[in-house]
Amino acid sequence: DKVAVIMPAAGRGRRFERDENKLFALLDGKPIWLQTVLRLRSNQRVGPIVMPISAADESSFRDGYDDQLQQLDVQLVTGGKERIDSVQCGLQALTDWPDDGLVAIHDAARPLVRSADLDQVFDKAALCGAAILAVPVTATVKRSSDGGLSCRTVDRSELSLAATPQVFRLALLRQAYQRHRGRPATDDAQLVARSGHDVALVHGASDNLKVTLPTDLVIAEAILKIQNE
Ligand code: CTP
Ligand code: MG
Repeated sequence: DKVAVIMPAAGRGRRFERDENKLFALLDGKPIWLQTVLRLRSNQRVGPIVMPISAADESSFRDGYDDQLQQLDVQLVTGGKERIDSVQCGLQALTDWPDDGLVAIHDAARPLVRSADLDQVFDKAALCGAAILAVPVTATVKRSSDGGLSCRTVDRSELSLAATPQVFRLALLRQAYQRHRGRPATDDAQLVARSGHDVALVHGASDNLKVTLPTDLVIAEAILKIQNE
């Protein structure tokens, strides 16, 4: 079965330190958001894509890309203040999708996700109802509770860095968002876990980078070259 995708793109990219949304920066000659759409479309199981954007960016997304958006089955909707609000706007637009169908949330700022990892996390979500891509922590992690005067090592064997896609049965995700009462959360899995459902962890490739800082674009270019070899 196909997987619907909500691709939040309504951020500002403040940490990227450019005037315009970081998603318009070119990666291998194409805007980051378009590379992400093309990457998703390279997987046969990806169904309709809903892309929440900020109203201020609408003409930048559409100008020159209107036909392509249609061909690639990407629906633009207006996003919200925080990422969570944007996902909620995307959910509202998924009116035709069946309750027991799968929906994947994938950051527009992650253009390097591998198709094989999409398959892995789709399969896991089909089995469990909720699954996310993540990467095992390789760094030595320290915790300090006294402002840095002293620190202790955190056992990293149980730690992973959450990535996207995060994939859920639609009814489960809707319920998690309905129960959400404004408590901050930085990903969707947190809301689903709070609503009482287990979220499975799928370890994916470590090169599924989120473009956040200016240097990430340089790294992304290099990763893309390696992936295309
Ligand atoms: N996003 C969104 N709506 C928001 C905020 C973020 O749809 N109100 C999207 C971003 O466009 C991005 C993804 O969520 O694709 C992950 O967010 P992040 O990497 O933090 O991007 P920005 O919020 O744009 O960047 P920053 O936090 O540096 O401003
Ligand atoms: Mg942000």
